[in-house]
Amino acid sequence: MKKAGILGGGQLGRMLIQAAIDFDVEVHILDPDAQAPCKHLCARFECGPMQDFDTVYRFGKNLDVLTIEIEKVNTDALERLALEGVQVFPQPHAIKIIQDKQLQKQFYQQHQIPTADFRLTNNRADLYQHINFLPAFLKLGRDGYDGRGVMPLNHPNDIATAFDQPCVLEKAVPILKELSVIVARNVQGQTAAFPAVELVFNPTYNLVDYLLQPARISPHTEQQAQQIALKVLEKLNMTGILAVEMFLTPDDQILVNEVAPRPHNSGHQTIKANFTSQYEQHWRAILGLPLGDTGISCPAAMLNIIGAPNQEGPAQYLGMDTVLATPRAYIHLYGKKITKPGRKMGHITLLDNNLPLLLERVHQLKNAIQVVCQSNR
Ligand SMILES: Nc1ncnc2c1ncn2[C@@H]1O[C@H](COP(=O)(O)OP(=O)(O)O)[C@@H](O)[C@H]1O
Ligand SMILES: [Mg+2]
Repeated sequence: MKKAGILGGGQLGRMLIQAAIDFDVEVHILDPDAQAPCKHLCARFECGPMQDFDTVYRFGKNLDVLTIEIEKVNTDALERLALEGVQVFPQPHAIKIIQDKQLQKQFYQQHQIPTADFRLTNNRADLYQHINFLPAFLKLGRDGYDGRGVMPLNHPNDIATAFDQPCVLEKAVPILKELSVIVARNVQGQTAAFPAVELVFNPTYNLVDYLLQPARISPHTEQQAQQIALKVLEKLNMTGILAVEMFLTPDDQILVNEVAPRPHNSGHQTIKANFTSQYEQHWRAILGLPLGDTGISCPAAMLNIIGAPNQEGPAQYLGMDTVLATPRAYIHLYGKKITKPGRKMGHITLLDNNLPLLLERVHQLKNAIQVVCQSNR
């Protein structure tokens, strides 16, 4: 039985554990949150900071393979562990590039991967030199996630309240659709791509509201999206799965937005709707096993369940009966004790061959399910 460690014990770790069971892998988890969703589901749970060298080094030392479910980790410790014989996937050099949006954007440029035009800035004052570059999106170089590290700068007046840290200032591009393609490469170098999914965003929280698989795009665009995602994976020279978020512009160009070298929110539906899930594919890739069939077994939608506005405290789920009474709707709760506005608390996968019906059910369930604070019921 292989011993595998995951840095991070949130919902992605939780679904990785579900997939690990079938491969008879013993999972060890490190997470700073003593109440992390994986806490009771793993062979060993360690509570500690993932950005601390000693914590990560000690956690990984006696494992066969070490992976991540979040990029904000100490890569020096991972490098040391890799030198000492632990299989670390994705490789630390790839995590380092992805951790920092400045490096990530430069990497795309260097490898002729299409991406929106950008400028690198060091602080707020720098932004005034780029007034002619607006409207743009300002993105924190490090530590931004789930829309909290991104702000639109439409007008020079917006600069006064902009991030005062190293950032990427990215030209606002017209977006017809946002797409994501998850690709995989195993230890032997075999690669595979999942079909593109179409992401529909929640404008209030800048989070994915729901997604559709397959995406409503032409076969040519589908092929192009998969090719670009595979190129990013190849140039990053990494093992494991990589989620590639892209923009499709009205003139049919694909621009790479950002990537994540781990299971991703845009791949949850693969558990129910594809012959191989992204989680299983990740294990296959990093354990040196043949990759699985990425094909779609049924068209699907995936709806994030997020914490209701103005509700913070012990989580309570309303509308569960409606979800459970809906045909071919599958609920996945992440086991987070505390709900917060916009926090990802779970997701629902819906399957149906009939697209209008699928969309109708998405909207029904979006209204039916609510995560509120227990005391405010
Ligand atoms: N250059 C851009 N032009 C237009 N919209 C953008 C641009 N960059 C980001 N966005 C919008 O903001 C969202 C969040 O940006 P992203 O870089 O993916 O950050 P996050 O780390 O929050 O996911 C994108 O999914 C997209 O809707
Ligand atoms: Mg994103």
